[in-house]
Amino acid sequence: MKRIAKRLLMAVGVLLVTGVGALLVFFYGLHPKLRDAPTVKAPSTPEAIARGKYLAEHVAGCASCHSPVDEAVPGAPYDVARMFAGRVWPGAGLPGQLTASNLTSDPEHGIGAWTDGELLRAMREGVGRDGRALFPIMPYQHLRTLPDDDALAIIAYLRTVPPIAQRLPPTSISFPVSMFVRLAPAPIEGPVPAWGSAPAERGKHLLNVMGCVGCHTPMKAGRPVESMAFAGGMEFQTPYLKVYAANLTPAGIGTYSDAELMAVMREGKGRDGRLLFAMPWTAYAGATDDDLRAVIAALRELTPIENVVPTSKPVTVSSSR
Ligand code: HEC
Ligand code: HEC
Repeated sequence: MKRIAKRLLMAVGVLLVTGVGALLVFFYGLHPKLRDAPTVKAPSTPEAIARGKYLAEHVAGCASCHSPVDEAVPGAPYDVARMFAGRVWPGAGLPGQLTASNLTSDPEHGIGAWTDGELLRAMREGVGRDGRALFPIMPYQHLRTLPDDDALAIIAYLRTVPPIAQRLPPTSISFPVSMFVRLAPAPIEGPVPAWGSAPAERGKHLLNVMGCVGCHTPMKAGRPVESMAFAGGMEFQTPYLKVYAANLTPAGIGTYSDAELMAVMREGKGRDGRLLFAMPWTAYAGATDDDLRAVIAALRELTPIENVVPTSKPVTVSSSR
């Protein structure tokens, strides 16, 4: 009897050890999936730099996330004087400490010493210079579709951003999230071509690259709920108001006119006339008519999903403190 029990225990032990071993190999041996940083050279023409500036400041959100911003102000404008100096990510509920790094050309604290290929890989494939899996708030999963020319133009522009020697605490993500984050990066094989020219087609890409999908899709266990894409409802706490991302499908904003949608993105004006918080419309305000029209065309084509979103409420400060 005793012998059987001992054997059983040993078998369980062996199973446990192989199980844990397999998990370790899966997460720490086989992930993150990455390739060597590609050998590429960003152009340095004035046209490419101008295109990159436009994309980084008004389309792809780089400036909105990698600069200090004032969340108490509608549209969360970034501090132009410290643009790209980096931002310690706000908000409770994050698994650790997240820093959107310094993207100025400072060689020590910024990206001055990175190669163009390392930047390209970080931006679209989610791998840091040291091979680390980046936390997917950095929207590399959506920036994957950024065409090569546009991605290189952004790098061309970042190279021209004057250095700001600002040191920020590095990202450190707590376990077990740090383990699961390793599954997020994926290498890009082959070139990423330019987008089609039809507005709805271009707009579909812009909804991803401009970050609309990220803020307007509910999350569960740190992942977007695909069946609720663009259906809204996520809560954002600002210093004074709790606001909720709108339902962007036709079931939510279907009755908005094009002019009303344009006013949301250009002027941050909600339908009720209030200025919108949390949404970076101060950045979108500088986007071209063409790009914003393409976004509107794509919004009209989303699958309608019923989801009633709460209205904004004042933040109640507990009176006991
Ligand atoms: C929604 C916010 C957001 C947007 C938009 C965004 N980033 Fe990030 N980015 C982050 C955060 C947060 C991190 C830190 C992730 C980490 O450390 O795991 C990061 C990390 C990075 C890194 C890696 C830095 C390092 O130290 O390894 C690079 C490079 C980068 N971003 C470039 C860009 C560029 C270029 C764009 C625009 C195309 C951009 N980011 C858009 C939030 C953002
Ligand atoms: C950083 C998160 C974030 C991003 C990125 C974002 N939004 Fe929003 N959006 C919000 C929040 C939060 C609200 C509600 C704000 C409020 O009530 O003050 C909102 C509100 C809206 C509204 C409703 C306005 C009204 O009438 O009340 C529309 C339309 C909208 N967003 C469209 C977009 C589009 C299109 C994009 C991409 C180009 C986008 N949003 C990107 C967070 C975001």
